[in-house]
Amino acid sequence: MEESNQFKRVIAHAKEYGFVFPSSEIYDGLSAVYDYGPHGVELKNNIKEYWWKAMVEGYQEIVGIDSAIFMHPTTWKASGHVDAFNDPLIENKDSNKRYRADVLIENHIKKIEAKIEKEILKAAKKWGQQFDRSTFINTSQRVIGYQIKINEIEKRFSSSMKKGDFLDMKLLIEECGIACPDSGSKNWSDIKQFNLMFQTKLGAAQKRASDLYMRPETAQGIFLNYLNVQKTSRLKIPFGIAQIGKAFRNEIVARQFIFRMREFEQMEMQYFIPPGSQQEWYSFWKAARLKWHHAMGLDKENYQFHDHINLAHYADDATDIEFKFPFGFKELEGIHSRTDFDLSSHQTFSGKKISYFDPFTNKTYTPFVIETSIGLDRMFLAIYSACLKEQTLEDASKRIVFELPPYLAPVKLAILPLVNKEELVGFAQEINDKLQWEWAISLDVKDTIGKRYRRQDAIGTPYCVTIDFDSLDDGKVTLRNRDSMKQERIAIDRIKQVVAHKVDMISALKTL
Ligand code: GAP
Repeated sequence: MEESNQFKRVIAHAKEYGFVFPSSEIYDGLSAVYDYGPHGVELKNNIKEYWWKAMVEGYQEIVGIDSAIFMHPTTWKASGHVDAFNDPLIENKDSNKRYRADVLIENHIKKIEAKIEKEILKAAKKWGQQFDRSTFINTSQRVIGYQIKINEIEKRFSSSMKKGDFLDMKLLIEECGIACPDSGSKNWSDIKQFNLMFQTKLGAAQKRASDLYMRPETAQGIFLNYLNVQKTSRLKIPFGIAQIGKAFRNEIVARQFIFRMREFEQMEMQYFIPPGSQQEWYSFWKAARLKWHHAMGLDKENYQFHDHINLAHYADDATDIEFKFPFGFKELEGIHSRTDFDLSSHQTFSGKKISYFDPFTNKTYTPFVIETSIGLDRMFLAIYSACLKEQTLEDASKRIVFELPPYLAPVKLAILPLVNKEELVGFAQEINDKLQWEWAISLDVKDTIGKRYRRQDAIGTPYCVTIDFDSLDDGKVTLRNRDSMKQERIAIDRIKQVVAHKVDMISALKTL
């Protein structure tokens, strides 16, 4: 499928087949907030299970928690979010559209990078087999010129970000000739800091009510529970704490469907390590997380690392695992070396000692942390974009097939009586009753069998079994495979074994 159209197809398909709906749609929706429908919630739960099993059950030294969304307000002062969880906001005075200034600059750099790629492609075509990419990059005056431009912009951008020098950042936008993507106008406002946390109140009496924040990351719930978990689980460093939960950010520009939302879910893990070992564990978790993605079986070309130039206030190293979404490579997961910033800061603000006595080295220290943080909704969108396919069949007809890894499919087995006749429906119901606790099953009676196959293909059901009149006599059904569309006759007693083998998540996890 062509890339730009693919994104439109994903959004339309997600609504039509009950995966994702705009929130509060009967009131015309709420910007950048979405609800998951009957199939969406199953797919989302399966992704969570794949992550939880890999991260919590897969490591003896990692345990899970589920902390509250509301946390003591000082948490966010200590974590730096009150002072530093800001985005540089710029407004175009003609279109009144608001943008993140840093994103405008990053997109401008990407445009220059695309020009370099174009030069390389042109030269590769011209020189054929003799073409040497690195020689070309180092000698082409045009490419060198572009690269110098990129380096200059990056240097200035990084320095103005670090210093919070928004005047210079605005000048940079103007000097680069960056125009409003909506109107083409270059008439920009000054840049302001915009804090992304949502605020609310705790308690009924307005005067005495205390200000609260909706958590912008789940990680702080882990840091605040570090002492409780370490003591009650009797874990020794290195160990990890994982959690899945909601996070809230008042994003300046929230768009691209469920890619950037104002309410979303994160799957985060904080790995506590001795100071000084952060490079080793950072490399370990980079490799481990990429392997987790690859084990899902989507094309490996979909993934790339993007190391950060501008580090968050808490990090001494950071990278993104980027995914090739229909709108280009974008961040899917962050891996951050968070030093001892959070634990030390909570120690200072709370006055409670947060340290660890290491029985191996006889030293007491504040642990350092490597964090892996993936957006569940983004993972959902990544899988959706890569697995939703339109195929042209031998007879020139088309089918939509959702080639989900079978263990993620919202429905694992569809039971289809060939026609809507009492004996067949009753028999189908008996098979359903026998298997209903094994996996999510759909017993579908309405429409022709062809239409029902298409419907199951479109929601990603790996297998359908069809019950016909012969089934009543020979105890066999027709098993149809979603991907190959091949059909075979099998005994009813074998359905459980065949489907269980196909939808088994554990075999994917065992490759980790
Ligand atoms: N605890 C670290 C942290 O929150 P982050 O890079 O800001 O780091 C981690 O977020 C992940 O959360 C991102 O890689 C992305 O997948 C997801 N995420 C962040 N903001 C999001 C948003 N507005 N909508 C959906 N997912 C988001």
